[in-house]
Amino acid sequence: MNTYNSLFESLWRDYTTRNPIAGDIYKLFAAEGENVVNDHIAFRTFDHPRINIDVLSRWFLNIGYEARGEYFFEDKHLFARHFEHRDIENAPRVFISQLICSHFSNYLQNTVSELVQQVPDKLLQSPEILVAGNVWETLPSHETYNQLRQESEYAAWLYLWGFTVNHFTVSVSHLNKLGSIEKTNEFLKHKGFVLNNSGGEIKGSPAELLEQSSTKANIVKHRFLEGEFEVPVTYYEFARRYPDIDGKLYRGFIAKSADKIFESTNYYSK
Ligand code: NI
Repeated sequence: MNTYNSLFESLWRDYTTRNPIAGDIYKLFAAEGENVVNDHIAFRTFDHPRINIDVLSRWFLNIGYEARGEYFFEDKHLFARHFEHRDIENAPRVFISQLICSHFSNYLQNTVSELVQQVPDKLLQSPEILVAGNVWETLPSHETYNQLRQESEYAAWLYLWGFTVNHFTVSVSHLNKLGSIEKTNEFLKHKGFVLNNSGGEIKGSPAELLEQSSTKANIVKHRFLEGEFEVPVTYYEFARRYPDIDGKLYRGFIAKSADKIFESTNYYSK
């Protein structure tokens, strides 16, 4: 996982194992003759110095990425940064967010610090952390999961899944036949996929230079201390970028839209 190709291959393998729906959609696009370009990938973490954005981003900086935009999500109490590759054209952006734990209850803060202490030192020195998954609980507690959800769906998701790509994103701007978000959404719904409707199916607008949509996270049966429960895992995102006044495709993110996209992994039952 020390080169651009090996890192992204590992991430894609990890992601499609957790979310086979994304692999299915990718194959459907390929079967339509589309060349699927990856717009961005995203990671989630806590703002604890052991595992924050600086720690996770290191492995991308090592292969030629640079920090670009910064974002605050007031309602969700998140800070995020996006990274772009210096040289590789069409390399996916990397979007890493972290939960601002001090904004939450003592319960959440104590739970998070206990979890973070359990991350092995050795893992913090290796890019394997990016696909390590849940490194803190061999068997998570459904009660803790639900209690975290009361305060932050994001925290509950991280508690359960740990370090893994939260989502990949198809660049709709690079799709030839399905070149608009509307057409892409119709295609997906026609094939039976469920889209995240929070804030409307399409987030953003041509005026904002970025439109996004996403599937709802897939649901799996997961083992907890208290037994088996169905929980959401990850989603696949679709993004169409528009050219700015210089004629170049917009490169950043729109906080208002991303705020709603985060909700793609909110708990729901089928
Ligand atoms: Ni995204």
